[in-house]
Amino acid sequence: MLRRGGVVLFFLFILSLMTGCNGEEAAVDGELNQEQQEAKESIPASSPRTLTDSELRGYFEPLGPVPVPKDNPMTEEKVELGKTLFVDHRLSGDQTLSCLSCHAPGAGYADNKAKSKGFEGVLLDRHTPSVINTAYYDELFWDGRANSLEEQALGPIQNPMEMNQTLDGLVETVEGIEGYQPMFDEVFDGKINAENIAKAIAAFERTIILDDTKHDRFIAGDNDALTEQEKFGMEIFVTKGNCLTCHSGPNFTDNNYHHVGIDSDDPGRYDVTQEEEDMGKFRTMGLRGIAATAPYMHDGRFDTIEEVVDYYDRGGDGHVNQSEFIQPLGLTEEEKEALVAYLHAISGDVPEIDIPELPE
Ligand code: HEC
Ligand code: HEC
Repeated sequence: MLRRGGVVLFFLFILSLMTGCNGEEAAVDGELNQEQQEAKESIPASSPRTLTDSELRGYFEPLGPVPVPKDNPMTEEKVELGKTLFVDHRLSGDQTLSCLSCHAPGAGYADNKAKSKGFEGVLLDRHTPSVINTAYYDELFWDGRANSLEEQALGPIQNPMEMNQTLDGLVETVEGIEGYQPMFDEVFDGKINAENIAKAIAAFERTIILDDTKHDRFIAGDNDALTEQEKFGMEIFVTKGNCLTCHSGPNFTDNNYHHVGIDSDDPGRYDVTQEEEDMGKFRTMGLRGIAATAPYMHDGRFDTIEEVVDYYDRGGDGHVNQSEFIQPLGLTEEEKEALVAYLHAISGDVPEIDIPELPE
């Protein structure tokens, strides 16, 4: 095969010398095997794309199975208990707020507000992120201050601005609701404590997974899962738009912290590291589910995906700490529309849950 290919190439080379046509192009065409030839044909003549379906696919990985910590295995009963605790407003200091108040399925497991109102209506410092696919982050919160969902879960319960509850108060409250005892009997040998409450909530959160978007079906091999425009948007995402530099890996995040140029007085990652260079940096957000979770960014400043794309296109707001990866992109209207269409194709359908009845 190889030798024959060589002979054909040599022949094409001679032919190109003889006819004076572009020898380089002939040689490249000559090297294409059948699969590459088919891939090349995957771009219709009318499309502005330059990358083939298989080349586009090569930039991405599937989300893969949910990582589960060894000391908190998933069981159906544990997930059900966690879900019940997640929706139970009685856990908060004034019995009014549950996790669901700010992380509602109908709002992409966030709440569609720039900033949520917490305990007694106080406005929180940062925009509420979604719980979707949080199981895949290395670190949680905008500034990455929690290392696991288990660690994260007790944060909002104790935060005086959020649920304003002490851990003792939390355990007392759960113990005071008789209906919880049999659930804890089954899952945790009867032990109601803060650690087990956090474990159950984390196990439930690991079921809020979105991994069957049009994007996912495309990278799994279904060429028809994306429209031509969405594929063009995918190409912009990985090339001219430079999005993949940070929104990389299976969960569309490098699990790292960047300053995208937003001028806010939030120290971000600096809160955790106390390093000057981390001032104003935030964790790269995953993108599945985003169509449901407007508004966007750590302060919820952008109402639409279009506004986010316009922001990146103009190269950010030029804050002094802005990442060198944020540069003016010079996208055409057609490119911006395609990128937005692709972001919708990543977004998929928000996972639904049955809200359990609260135990008494
Ligand atoms: C009053 C609104 C509010 C309530 C109630 C609330 N959260 Fe949140 N949640 C937020 C905000 C705001 C953040 C981001 C805070 C930050 O990054 O500093 C957040 C962050 C998170 C994150 C991290 C997401 C990420 O991308 O890293 C998870 C997970 C989460 N909350 C789960 C919960 C759970 C579990 C509960 C109930 C125990 C809960 N939240 C209750 C507002 C709320
Ligand atoms: C330098 C790294 C970097 C690059 C390049 C980058 N992003 Fe981001 N992206 C981030 C970070 C960090 C955040 C959170 C920033 C904040 O809130 O201050 C973010 C937030 C977002 C959000 C909002 C997510 C949410 O839940 O609020 C969207 C949408 C988004 N980026 C899409 C894109 C697109 C599209 C591109 C390419 C045009 C892109 N990003 C390029 C790092 C980056």
